[in-house]
Amino acid sequence: MIRVAVVGYGRCGEAHARCYAGMPDAAVVAVADPTPTRRRLARRHHPHAEVVRSSTELSAEVDLALICTPPSSHETYIEESLLRGAHVFCEKPVFLDPVNGRRLIDLASARARIIFPGHNYLFAPVLNALREQCSPARIGRPQRVEITIDRTRPAPGISDWRPDWRSDRGVAGGGILVDHGAHCVYLTEWLCDRRIRQVSCRIRYGASGIDHWSELRLRLGGGATATVTLDWRAASRRTAYRVIGEYGTAAAVLDDQPGAVPGGRVAGAVPAQGRSGHAHSDWMPEMAREVLRHVACASDVRTLAAPALTVAEVIAAAYASARAGSRWHAVDAHDPERTHRPS
Ligand SMILES: NC(=O)c1ccc[n+]([C@@H]2O[C@H](COP(=O)([O-])OP(=O)(O)OC[C@H]3O[C@@H](n4cnc5c(N)ncnc54)[C@H](O)[C@@H]3O)[C@@H](O)[C@H]2O)c1
Repeated sequence: MIRVAVVGYGRCGEAHARCYAGMPDAAVVAVADPTPTRRRLARRHHPHAEVVRSSTELSAEVDLALICTPPSSHETYIEESLLRGAHVFCEKPVFLDPVNGRRLIDLASARARIIFPGHNYLFAPVLNALREQCSPARIGRPQRVEITIDRTRPAPGISDWRPDWRSDRGVAGGGILVDHGAHCVYLTEWLCDRRIRQVSCRIRYGASGIDHWSELRLRLGGGATATVTLDWRAASRRTAYRVIGEYGTAAAVLDDQPGAVPGGRVAGAVPAQGRSGHAHSDWMPEMAREVLRHVACASDVRTLAAPALTVAEVIAAAYASARAGSRWHAVDAHDPERTHRPS
């Protein structure tokens, strides 16, 4: 039985806890959250768990910590959990600072513990269908990826804590580039099976000093390119992915407008407000099974966490590029062997 602690019982933490509590080989033994209403809820949902204000108060023996707090605290809780001897699953973005990320991976490696990134879009059926459709056998080698994420505003956090935390750089660690960009970076590499080498970025900042619009241009190995456009002030919601190969195009939309993707095969569409919801809970069981499998065999953390390091490096390079008038920035090709869903 894998004993699970949840750090941060917000919308994501609650959904992960429900998922693990329903698995035969896992038990939620502890929850830490500073918000009293969230602790009350956690006690109701998990009456046998130790529920505390801060993870430093935990006394339960824990095998796996699920870090579900806002991004600026991820690195602190990863380190604390590893030092306790626990394996770690961390919501995205796992690391904000690539240098610190490397240090934490070294720490995990020295202790034979995993850090599993919450890159849950890799478990989305519609995106797996897209990847199938953009395989070289179907459209030739992917040459270009285009991703558009339009939102009318940042997603609100739970009302009892700080619903606007995504607009506070100190808590969120950045704006839309950190929030949605994280998913787009690992998905780009996964969809075209090439590594990001260079980044150029344009950003628009709002009054709060948070980036609310960003255009990320990427150069990948083998001459492939990608453009990721992110907008928190769009007129309507839209999520679109397009992969252009040597002989054809594959596309997917995650909203209600499959016809809005021009050309190519449409891999599928799921409703914007479908079962998945804010935390994409219907993608969670498969990811949780993967996490437990890697915990059971203490898989190599360098392979597992490499995509999270890439996300941190690409986002750091993107902010640096935007500050330097969109100049191309190199991304450290630290691990050419990195894979996104290691078996
Ligand atoms: N992978 C995805 O699809 C996805 C979707 C949404 C959010 N997320 C990620 O999940 C994380 C949490 O987002 P959310 O939407 O659940 O936020 P939320 O606002 O719903 O919840 C945040 C929770 O963290 C708690 N908290 C704040 N500081 C804490 C601390 N120092 N220690 C312990 N708990 C603390 C708050 O009390 C609150 O309960 C973020 O990293 C976010 O990027 C991922």
